[in-house]
Amino acid sequence: MNIVRRTLTTMASSRMKSWFPTTSYPPIILAPMAGVTNPKLASEVTKAGGLGFIQGGKDFEPESKGVEDLENQLAQARKYLGLGAPANDDASTLPIGVGALTLAPSTKHFGETAVPILRRHRPAAVWLFAPPPEVPDTIPSVVKALKSGSGSGAWVPKVVVQVGTVDAAREAAKGGADIIVAQGVDAGGHQWKQGSGVISLVPEISDLVHNEFPDRDIAVWAAGGIADGRGVAAALALGAEGVVLGTRYIVASESDADALKKKAIISTSDGGKTTIKSQFHDSIQGTTFWPGIYDGRAIITESYQDHENGVPLDENVKKFKAAKESGDASRIVTWSGTGVGLIKEELPAAEITKKVREDALKVITGFKSLI
Ligand SMILES: Cc1cc2nc3c(=O)[nH]c(=O)nc-3n(C[C@H](O)[C@H](O)[C@H](O)COP(=O)(O)O)c2cc1C
Repeated sequence: MNIVRRTLTTMASSRMKSWFPTTSYPPIILAPMAGVTNPKLASEVTKAGGLGFIQGGKDFEPESKGVEDLENQLAQARKYLGLGAPANDDASTLPIGVGALTLAPSTKHFGETAVPILRRHRPAAVWLFAPPPEVPDTIPSVVKALKSGSGSGAWVPKVVVQVGTVDAAREAAKGGADIIVAQGVDAGGHQWKQGSGVISLVPEISDLVHNEFPDRDIAVWAAGGIADGRGVAAALALGAEGVVLGTRYIVASESDADALKKKAIISTSDGGKTTIKSQFHDSIQGTTFWPGIYDGRAIITESYQDHENGVPLDENVKKFKAAKESGDASRIVTWSGTGVGLIKEELPAAEITKKVREDALKVITGFKSLI
């Protein structure tokens, strides 16, 4: 089939609506973001017709704080969504998703620790990100554990895998992903160190899914630098069936982000110049658990400028810690995508969701009137 017709057919299909019945078109998705998302934020996005994700952490060790926190977050989300405690015979789905970072060795316990909690609460989707390259069966084994439910009414979530390259998308599809998030290098936060922008990544991954996995029901979502309705409309035109926003929701009223970070995002513009993709942002904060194939995009700070000017890391770390202790915001690491210049105000998450969706629809229908 001609690729334009194929894209239009995919857009017109109601796969997202049948997978996530509470969403409105086009589906706007809140990325699971460590330090930002929480049950209230995710629930507000869902209630506004988007799909909210909470971040379920990276520590899946038995009896760990991370596992306990996952249970608490899901219980709170039920409350915000107006639902009671999960009942044994309840076959309905919780209309939010759960993110999981799959980079720690404790991911091997995911099936025994996280899955029973997820099975009880029945979130609509589980989003996996950042498998360590030296453990190639990470995604397949987590997917297998997630899809192990059987019998009528069994919980089987849609599994979302975020990737930054076409090759990683192929591995995600082979590993059992239902949805592949094509995360371009414009994205805020962690991502593939070597990658491309969404404008080529989304259609190439969409072609890969169509050509190499024709018998599978796999959808593609777009992420990275998308902060308003124009970006959403463009992502749909590229073949995305859902559009992920991260940085835009950092400034949602309900987000957990520190006020100084929200202020930094609102006051920063020209994201290509004022943000940078680098592993330095982790080094300066003393974060060591990210495998080398990943880096992260954040707003350029005085620490980064010192690093560029040759200041050694240990000296730079001392300055970073001293600034933090004295309340000086100039060295705070604020993960942010290149769309930062499009974000001008803090708003409730529901308003962000509705405005972005309505603006996207205006762009799409506006094109029609030109033809
Ligand atoms: C502050 C921040 C934290 C993030 N944390 C996570 C995370 O815990 N797990 C994950 O899969 N992606 C995480 N991401 C990446 C997002 O999933 C998404 O790809 C990104 O936000 C999209 O780009 P945008 O920020 O330009 O919208 C994070 C992004 C940001 C900005």
